Amino acid sequence: MRIAVLAGDGIGPEITAQAVRVLEALGRDGLELAIERAPVGGAGYDAAGDPLPEATLKVAERADAILFGSVGGPKYDALPRAKRPEQGLLRLRKHFDLFANLRPAIVYPELAHASTLKDEVVAGLDLLILRELTSDIYFGQPRGVRVNENGEREGFDTMRYTEGEIRRIAVLAFETARRRRRRVCSVDKANVLETTQFWRDVVAEVHAEYRDVELVHMYVDNAAMQLVRNPKQFDVIVTGNMFGDILSDEASMLTGSIGMLPSASLNARGFGLYEPIHGSAPDIAGRDVANPLATILSAAMLLRHSFGNEAGAHRIERAVRKVLAQGYRTADIAEPGKRTVGTKEMGDAVLAAL
Ligand code: IPM
Ligand code: MG
Repeated sequence: MRIAVLAGDGIGPEITAQAVRVLEALGRDGLELAIERAPVGGAGYDAAGDPLPEATLKVAERADAILFGSVGGPKYDALPRAKRPEQGLLRLRKHFDLFANLRPAIVYPELAHASTLKDEVVAGLDLLILRELTSDIYFGQPRGVRVNENGEREGFDTMRYTEGEIRRIAVLAFETARRRRRRVCSVDKANVLETTQFWRDVVAEVHAEYRDVELVHMYVDNAAMQLVRNPKQFDVIVTGNMFGDILSDEASMLTGSIGMLPSASLNARGFGLYEPIHGSAPDIAGRDVANPLATILSAAMLLRHSFGNEAGAHRIERAVRKVLAQGYRTADIAEPGKRTVGTKEMGDAVLAAL
């Protein structure tokens, strides 16, 4: 397994270090592991003046999968957009055509209380947000800031989706739902936006081939509300890039902490980038307090989706459950009477549980 480790900025290096230890521990049990590290985001800019240096792209290209930390930080906020850390990630997603972003939100029984919602609302929750990741207003052209015909400055972006882009994510949503509880909720804003009315129509067309799966359509404002009102009504949520970005942050809080949510971003040939959904958290970077579990769980997704190694993925997920049951907590999920540990100690606990 050739894995490109792109740790990035902020807490990225600390959390990916723990995930790499976990992969290496499995490696000692016979998985052959070759890890290559390269800078991305602000670190890429510092090293080579580019958030996705050519050399980093080469490392990613010769790998079988990418383990990604996080990018961004106040130090880089004033840079021109093309040089900003986030561009490193967006360009990787586009370059490898990683259109399918899987963001599972699972509530571990031990953490139900850590959610800001009532236990009974979130206990047992298991939903999957399937976010389209390479199109929408994130990538649509034209975009920019211009002086309009009235001499006033105006900013503009373009929301767009092609039929093919909607079709392939819809197919994946129905296929995935068949292996789960056979329910898909497609989220749009069809009452206002042409692009998303089109989204709704194409998803409904694809559904004709998947009559055994239940499909409902929901407006994004209602979906945001339903996610905190009754999240257990959802099985698979499929949506566009921007709505998926927003709803997945919201869904993370159902699980207790954004520090718990892994993700996989896959292309049609199963090549993937694996990353926690949280950001670089510059305020706590370098202090050994960040929660590494989302990244460790991302490593489990890496084994599952890029290497078909369900047993390895399961071992990691069981180890995470075990450390939670043993009472290990990082600061974001801290609880009176439980043991608050730092990033590395949480990594140690997962290794011991493995
Ligand atoms: C995410 C992040 C990214 C996004 C940023 C860092 C570009 O928020 O992965 O959800 O908006 O997609
Ligand atoms: Mg986001």
